[in-house]
Amino acid sequence: MLVTMPSQRQVLSILACLSTFFLLLTLFRHDDVYTKIPGLGKSKGDAKAPDQDKKPPPPRRYKPKPEYIPPPIKDNFPLLSTSLKAPPIPKWNVPRANLHKEYDLPIAPPLLIGFSRTWPILLQAVVSYLTAGWPADQIYVVENTGVQQANARGQLTLQNPFYLNHTILNALGVNIIQTPTLLSFAQLQNFYLSLTYSHDWPYYFWSHMDVLVLSYEDGHELTPKYHEEGYKPLYELALKALRDARRNDPHWATRFFSYDHLTAVNPAAYEDVGGWDTMIPYYITDCDMHSRLLMRNWTMEDVRAGIITDVSTSLDDLVALYRVDGVEPKFTDPNPPPPKKEGEDGKRLRRDMVDMVTKRDAVKVTKRVPPSGMLDKRDRAKVYRSSDEDENLRRWRKLLSTADSMFHYKHGARGRNTWQTGQRGGQGEPFYYDAAGLAEAIDLTTENGKEIFRRKWGHRDCDLRSGAGLQFDDQWLVEKDWE
Ligand SMILES: *[C@@H]1O[C@H](CO)[C@@H](O)[C@H](O)[C@H]1NC(C)=O
Ligand SMILES: *[C@@H]1O[C@H](CO)[C@@H](O)[C@H](O)[C@H]1NC(C)=O
Repeated sequence: MLVTMPSQRQVLSILACLSTFFLLLTLFRHDDVYTKIPGLGKSKGDAKAPDQDKKPPPPRRYKPKPEYIPPPIKDNFPLLSTSLKAPPIPKWNVPRANLHKEYDLPIAPPLLIGFSRTWPILLQAVVSYLTAGWPADQIYVVENTGVQQANARGQLTLQNPFYLNHTILNALGVNIIQTPTLLSFAQLQNFYLSLTYSHDWPYYFWSHMDVLVLSYEDGHELTPKYHEEGYKPLYELALKALRDARRNDPHWATRFFSYDHLTAVNPAAYEDVGGWDTMIPYYITDCDMHSRLLMRNWTMEDVRAGIITDVSTSLDDLVALYRVDGVEPKFTDPNPPPPKKEGEDGKRLRRDMVDMVTKRDAVKVTKRVPPSGMLDKRDRAKVYRSSDEDENLRRWRKLLSTADSMFHYKHGARGRNTWQTGQRGGQGEPFYYDAAGLAEAIDLTTENGKEIFRRKWGHRDCDLRSGAGLQFDDQWLVEKDWE
């Protein structure tokens, strides 16, 4: 519909009419005002509440209560919470002082681990990096909870999804950085980039929090065995991969360890493509980012430094990672599924794997190795055949096979992201937010991000270069390529 703009004269006459109208209205109501002031006219009770004439609101209808509530989560490192002192890490994984200098690295590389919810899973990731040799003072837990100072002040309780214990992380010697507000995944990645400016970091590593890492203590054909000369734990192999990237490849953007479960980043590459697109907040934002890096000829290679397993559960007692005598690794789901209904089974593994593989293929990482978190048949045979070795390797193999079961549990029986909704407590605590509501809101935001991706590239899938032949400057400029 077309609306013609009124001329100046018309505007003026409309304004004049309106002012006269309001003037009359004020005069007319003047009397009325006095009668409503208590003691001057009629009593206050006669004044009608603004919506007294309206119908009463319909009764509130609450959603049905969940049929099943998972049991409360448990402390997975009781020794640390009582004594505030962790056992020593396995001595063969203790890094030599200033190890990074042996690898021509100007600064000791930081490792950023973002945390939004589910404390036991984070604590497990941190402890597994420590026991795989990553120096504590180079680990930065990035608290991205949106609860302001509530955790720093110790105001939340264990059952609150956003609970994070600063005292315990300090006792482990790791750093904590707090985001000023709850950031999406893509925003968090750009926040990491911003830290490189404030800290003068020429590179950094970042890791997902839902991982359990182990060094190749059996050698794995990548390093001598743990008790042999020249053995390199995960941290040292990561340093080596970073050195090689810097030395041999001026166009390196990332080095992936087990897809992006652990990633080394070259900030110059991120900067060159304008960082992550925060309008695509969660899933598929990696397709967007990684495609743009490749479109500008930055390299992304898969490398190996250790066994990095994608998990949704925690070991019952993290002291197992320190190889404390008498503690066998076991795990429990912090958010066990409701009792099974008929007709449900574990078909999820295949779909998840297909997801992961198509995404990886679409982006075409410059150099490919299979993700180390999934043991292939050969690996598994080796892992379970362990009679020939000493007690330390036996314990390590037990940890590895437990991690492998945790991986299969996550991708098979249980489903990938259920770990994020295990804790349901915290009602009445500062910055309380309904756990199921948050999960639903993030799902919606994710869906919206996928639509933005489709409109940005005119293409529905991750294969922006190989499938659609798109180039860096095509963003937001092409029509959709499907009907
Ligand atoms: C954090 O852990 C310490 C050590 O176990 C404990 O004393 C403290 O109460 C915990 N903080 C909160 C908020 O639970
Ligand atoms: C990337 O490399 C290709 C092939 O060498 C070249 O044609 C293209 O111009 C390069 N693109 C950029 C953005 O440097």
